[in-house]
Amino acid sequence: MLFSFSLSTLIFSLVSKNKVLKVYFKGLFITTGMLYVNSLINTLNAKKVTYILVIEGMVFLRSVITNLVGRDLITTQEWSIEELRATLKVAKELKRMYYYLGPSRIPDYLKKKVFVMLFYAPSTRTRSAFETAMELLGGHAQYVEARMTRMGEGEALKDVAKMYEIFGDAVGIRILDKAIDYKYGEGHKVIREVAKYANVPVINMADDQEHPTQALGDIMTMEEKLGNVRGKKFVIMWGYAPVIRGYCSIHADMLIATRFGMDVVIAHPPGFELPEKYVEWAKQNAKESGGSIEFVNDYRQALEGAHAVFPRSWCSRKLAELGASKFGEEELRMYQKYRDWRLKMEDLDLMDKRGIITHVLPVLRGYEADDEVMDSPRSVIYEQAENNMFAKAAVLLLTMGGLV
Ligand code: CP
Repeated sequence: MLFSFSLSTLIFSLVSKNKVLKVYFKGLFITTGMLYVNSLINTLNAKKVTYILVIEGMVFLRSVITNLVGRDLITTQEWSIEELRATLKVAKELKRMYYYLGPSRIPDYLKKKVFVMLFYAPSTRTRSAFETAMELLGGHAQYVEARMTRMGEGEALKDVAKMYEIFGDAVGIRILDKAIDYKYGEGHKVIREVAKYANVPVINMADDQEHPTQALGDIMTMEEKLGNVRGKKFVIMWGYAPVIRGYCSIHADMLIATRFGMDVVIAHPPGFELPEKYVEWAKQNAKESGGSIEFVNDYRQALEGAHAVFPRSWCSRKLAELGASKFGEEELRMYQKYRDWRLKMEDLDLMDKRGIITHVLPVLRGYEADDEVMDSPRSVIYEQAENNMFAKAAVLLLTMGGLV
């Protein structure tokens, strides 16, 4: 007894003085604790262990869900991996309910709640998907076109943010491309500004840098089609287009795929390097998730063994810096050199036999990819659009607190 007391005193005095020993003993205590829990579990039967794990999982999921109430979604980088996974769980559950029970059996989780959607830029899918999502959850999506507001007369963004906080329970904003002359950062700045003043969740519905709800729907689709995506090769390839396109979906998919442990390869001609901050984020994500990120200038080499491909044009850094009004014509002339950067049927042979074709849409058929590719049985573009609707519904449901 005296010996063990002296030993503990000795350990305590050493540990409290020495940083390395402190870390060592912390590790030792955690390991011992885990071994103890493990031995306890071993004494129970398998059924009880399952119950414990299910309850633990539910308690954990509940805490993640509670933490999402009132949160903005401006970039997936600001949500933890657990929060992203919980959102996908909810999206998959909504989809399951939709198909197995029918849309009318989905509870009115967001009854009387309003999602105000401020659009500075056009949309085929995003607007429609958010409106359908709000309808399915019993709420209302209010469409506001920025050009039809008083902002053109000089109304301050702060006042707009405060108004929509009063009228709505969440605010969505889309601002990119022509609405900001393709100038990098201009759209993102507006979303951050609204988020600063609006005391309700602000959802990025696509700006010049990000498209987080798109990313969620895309990773959901890849999980559905490929199973566990960890270690699966995902090629995002630049594709020729006769128009200028920004980075949002490229960044969005690169970030989420590296977060989920995929081996991501970005293939582009020289001069189409992505902004450093996003490259650094992707590298950090890959390091943390066990995935990888690589940049190459040969798309056919990149496609070797790929499990998924996303062919899409994006602009040069110079265009993003100067804007289309100053550099647009020169930019489009530059694209001409790379007209053969187009996903063709023969390219699919390079991929894994079950590799899938993805696209966030709109796809520029005959430019970024051939018609036969987009219409091939390996194309998942419509399922992707569908999953995007459920992912958006999950984001609304969680951030607007419909589950707590
Ligand atoms: N994928 C996507 O955001 O499509 P829209 O631009 O048509 O909304």
